[in-house]
Parts: sequence; structure tokens; C-alpha cells
Amino acid sequence: MDRLIAEFDRALRAIAGVVHAERQSPAAAVAETPLEDVPKAHAAALMRVNHVGEICAQALYQGQALTARRAESRQALAQAAREEEDHLAWSAERIRELGGRPSLLNPLWYAGSFAIGAAAGLLGDRWNFAFLAETERQVEEHLTGHLEALPPEDQRTRAVVEAMRADEARHRASALELGAAELPEPVRLAMRLASRVMTTVAYRV
Ligand SMILES: [Fe+2]
Ligand SMILES: [Fe+2]
Repeated sequence: MDRLIAEFDRALRAIAGVVHAERQSPAAAVAETPLEDVPKAHAAALMRVNHVGEICAQALYQGQALTARRAESRQALAQAAREEEDHLAWSAERIRELGGRPSLLNPLWYAGSFAIGAAAGLLGDRWNFAFLAETERQVEEHLTGHLEALPPEDQRTRAVVEAMRADEARHRASALELGAAELPEPVRLAMRLASRVMTTVAYRV
């Protein structure tokens, strides 16, 4: 029961944007460059997409940790979720700095991802980590795309995205170390399609 309350509290904080980073934002060390309106709005929208990605990551890992079998697995998921909390806080902060706003659909993203995570956890740890590893791989690729799409002069946003990408690569490596299976191609494709829908919608709403 206590655990359920703690999970619920965490969900509400993620959705409401009341999260604190344990590590300082990588943007803090980078000077702000004045941006024109259009590239600034574009950067804010891209960061909204990333923020939604982090909302989904929180929900996925919480769902997965809830149903994971081994204590070691639950611990690894909880550790990854804590680092994703930093990402959540960093991207929210950067959206604010760019004059944007987070997605209005965050409760929906959260609920959907939580259900998917819990379902993955029920399939057993090997598949749970397979799903985690593939998620991180796709997020990594996606962030690489954002580094290409972001205004080159927006070094502050780029610092955040680069640090997130490095963390995601580590999350993937740790999932593989913990014995992730290889996901079948149709599942990987379905995940790609789902994230395409999410990124397209979140860029706008
Ligand atoms: Fe992340
Ligand atoms: Fe991650």
C-alpha cells in the first residue's frame, strides 16, 4: 500500500512538473545565445517533445519496476528512473527558458506508458530489459536527430540534449548487462510507430 502511494505521488509530481534534479542542468555551464523568434519556438517545441519522452520514460520505468521479478531488476529500473527525473527537470527548465510550455497531454502520455511498462514487466525480466534497451536505443537515435534539428547557435539546449543522450546510452548498456533479450522486429517497429505518433503530436500540443 505504501508503495502504491509512493508511486502515485511520483506520477503526480512528474505530470505536474514538480521534480527536482539531483544533478545540475548541463545548460547551467553554457551562456544563453539570443535566438530569433522562429528558431526559438522550434527549439522550445523540440524540448517539449523531449520532455514528453521523459514523462513516458518515468511512467515506463515505474510500470516496469512495479511488475519486475528480481530485486536487482527493480533496483536497476529505479536507478534509471531517478536519472530520467533529472532529464525531466532539465527539459522542463529549458522549455521555460525558451518561452514554451510542456505538453497539455502529459497525463495521457503518462497513463499510456505506465500501462505499457507494467505489461512489459509481466513478461519477465529478460523481456522487460529487452524493452528498456530498445526504448533507450530509439531515444538515443531520436536525440541525435534533435541535435541535427536544433538551431546550431542554441548551445544551451544542445548541452542538455547531449547529456541526456549520454545517459540513455548508459541505460541501454546496463539493460543489456542485465540480460536483455533481443526484441522481435515487429515489436521494434510498433514501438517506432508509437513514438512517431507521440513526437508528432507533442511537437504541436
Ligand atoms: Fe531520459
Ligand atoms: Fe534513459
